[in-house]
Amino acid sequence: MAAARVSDHYRTAFVTGASTGLGLAFTAMLLADGVQVWGTSRELARLEPLVRAHPGRFHAVALDLGDEAAALGAFAAAEQAAGGFDLVVNNAGFGLFGTFAGTAFAEWRRQLEVMLVHTAALSHAALRPMLARNRGALVNISSLAAEFPLPFQSAYNICKAGLTALNESLMLEVSGTGVVILDVRPGDYRTDFEGAVRRPSGEASPRLARAWAAFEKMMRSGPPPAHAAAALRRALLRRRSATVRTGRFFQAVAGPFLVRFGSLDLNRRIQARYFDV
Ligand SMILES: NC(=O)c1ccc[n+]([C@@H]2O[C@H](COP(=O)([O-])OP(=O)(O)OC[C@H]3O[C@@H](n4cnc5c(N)ncnc54)[C@H](OP(=O)(O)O)[C@@H]3O)[C@@H](O)[C@H]2O)c1
Repeated sequence: MAAARVSDHYRTAFVTGASTGLGLAFTAMLLADGVQVWGTSRELARLEPLVRAHPGRFHAVALDLGDEAAALGAFAAAEQAAGGFDLVVNNAGFGLFGTFAGTAFAEWRRQLEVMLVHTAALSHAALRPMLARNRGALVNISSLAAEFPLPFQSAYNICKAGLTALNESLMLEVSGTGVVILDVRPGDYRTDFEGAVRRPSGEASPRLARAWAAFEKMMRSGPPPAHAAAALRRALLRRRSATVRTGRFFQAVAGPFLVRFGSLDLNRRIQARYFDV
């Protein structure tokens, strides 16, 4: 019997942030499994290598989540070209590092708009046709930060906790239908993420410096993105809604297990120790 492939169930996919990091690894995994992928970047040139390597199977889409109307328009045009998406992966995102009080509120709000509200808008656009067809999978890339907030990244933590809450809500709503919701919570992976983190306030203090150093060290020593793509592949092949915690053992398995039996206070103390703040 032939080995199961993601394309046995999902023939077309839309992946945001396909140019690098986790999104690129998800895209490569889907293409290797025979799925046609429409992948996005804010700069089409960053997708050229994928277009050249997979002619007619990878389709480049310009999409900036900063502009909700334009992003929805880009999604609708791609959906029409694809004849509908069986799979939508909301992956694009970025970090913002600084104290809550020291960061301009407009900048803080912007991250919530881009990574929570506009990502929810794409989820909304993706889910309607899936429910009408009674099949498809919506994957929202959250983070273990939804469970273990990162110091000095309050807006990011809210985006991921909110996205996870949306995913949990949708799992209840779609139960009994043919639609699958995956709440993917990666730990630290070695991607361009830490290089792309914005530090708009320019604040400096020993506590911020120590938290940044711990964060940078964890990101740089994390597993490669292909590890997360393999976890997503396994979850897609199971074809049921689920939470997918993925990353090194301590973050994705031991941490959540310990916290389940400890108190919130213990959780906070472990986080403070982990980040040396
Ligand atoms: N790496 C980790 O350890 C980790 C852990 C937990 C969760 N995550 C989550 O995983 C996702 C991918 O992160 P990554 O580590 O792969 O980061 P990355 O290497 O920095 O890649 C980020 C991707 O998002 C796109 N992007 C960024 N801002 C965007 C915007 N305003 N509009 C549209 N696209 C935008 C980028 O595309 P262009 O620059 O080409 O436009 C790029 O393709 C994010 O949601 C992140 O929060 C990552």
